[in-house]
Amino acid sequence: MNNIFKFASYIFITLAVAWLAFVVGARNQFGDLTPSPEMLSEDPDVDLFPQPLSGIAQLGSKEYLSLGCVTCHTQQVRSENAGFDVARGWGKRPSVPRDYVLQEEVLLGHNRVGPDLANIGTREYSSDWLHRHLFSPQIAVEGSICQPSPFLYNISEFETDSSIKTVDDKNTTLHIIPSLRANRIVAYLQSLNQNYELPEISFSDDISESELVEIAQADVVGVESNSSELPSWLAAQISSGKEIYMKAAPGGGLCFTCHQPNGEGLAGQFPPLAGSDWVLGSKEKLIKISIYGLMGEIEVNGVKYNNVMAPPGIPPGSLTDQQIADVLTYIRNDWGNSASSVSPEEVASVRAKIKNRAPMQMWTAAELSAVSSITE
Ligand code: HEC
Ligand code: HEC
Repeated sequence: MNNIFKFASYIFITLAVAWLAFVVGARNQFGDLTPSPEMLSEDPDVDLFPQPLSGIAQLGSKEYLSLGCVTCHTQQVRSENAGFDVARGWGKRPSVPRDYVLQEEVLLGHNRVGPDLANIGTREYSSDWLHRHLFSPQIAVEGSICQPSPFLYNISEFETDSSIKTVDDKNTTLHIIPSLRANRIVAYLQSLNQNYELPEISFSDDISESELVEIAQADVVGVESNSSELPSWLAAQISSGKEIYMKAAPGGGLCFTCHQPNGEGLAGQFPPLAGSDWVLGSKEKLIKISIYGLMGEIEVNGVKYNNVMAPPGIPPGSLTDQQIADVLTYIRNDWGNSASSVSPEEVASVRAKIKNRAPMQMWTAAELSAVSSITE
């Protein structure tokens, strides 16, 4: 009896947790989302966003679903963390739940075989092109594997008012007459757009990696020009170091993602490098941090941080002596910092001293201070 009671209460707890998570949780997150007029303008005449689909487009969404377009096409522009779709030109910003509040059936899609269609309506395809593509994608786009739907069209030998001129696979001219279903689908596709900003999200600045490198290089030119008195080897080390600071693989440290392009770090998370007593202090500690990373409590300029910096580089800990020397020389000489340069030989000699340390074994600030007070 006792066991049955326990058994029943476990079942109850399991169901209750699921209900809390999936029903109450979801309601809390999304339950009171509405279309948004407020932030767009004070003007009461301004449109609500997102907007409801027109009648024909709504019918089109049903056709779209029934033809299985959702198996290959998504309608969700993913955010930066999930492979930035904005950079692929699929939208001006990531999609958010509010984009879908007015849709009866949300057609997020299953797979991404074809391009995301959340913003297909903004892509300036004519309705004739969309019809030709729907009739036979292979005619509109060479080698396309998109699903053809010729059964949505009547084929006529002659041009008529509603016909659209196209060709078949043998390049003979055809006139296709869209059925009602075809017109619904095209109206639906043309209505799809997330081309507006919402209170919770604005358009992303589309910064691709190549642009980041360009920005970095433009700034490097700046470093070189206002430090024209520097000896050329030092200027070269600083500019290569700045590139490593900004760059991803190969040979980059991506330091800027945490310590920021201006070296200020982020309050409470990533300590600053600008004006940091660590950066301007012992080179040996800096080299050790650059090889093995750092974790645990650290005080930088009187402020405490407690976080993790994995060994920099991709893969972790892969920066060479020269790269470490350059990036450290750079951080010691930008944002108002001014300290002696670091040479590859200095990095090599510190590396030799700690060569028995296990890979990935991050330092703690306390450990660095204890060791260096003995050896320095
Ligand atoms: C087998 C997977 C698959 C299915 C099913 C599919 N598509 Fe596609 N679709 C693709 C691929 C791949 C492309 C990219 C090549 C191209 O443009 O034809 C594409 C491209 C498109 C484009 C052009 C997008 C752009 O931005 O250039 C449209 C519009 C489109 N599909 C609509 C549809 C519709 C409507 C359906 C349902 C009738 C559908 N697709 C079903 C794979 C598919
Ligand atoms: C993933 C984020 C991240 C990246 C990338 C990163 N750091 Fe750090 N860094 C941190 C964190 C977090 C700390 C503080 C660790 C702690 O709490 O012990 C830190 C501490 C430091 C410190 C000592 C404290 C200070 O502010 O002066 C230096 C120097 C430093 N990092 C340099 C670099 C350099 C150079 C690179 C690139 C080669 C780099 N970091 C890349 C997160 C990062």
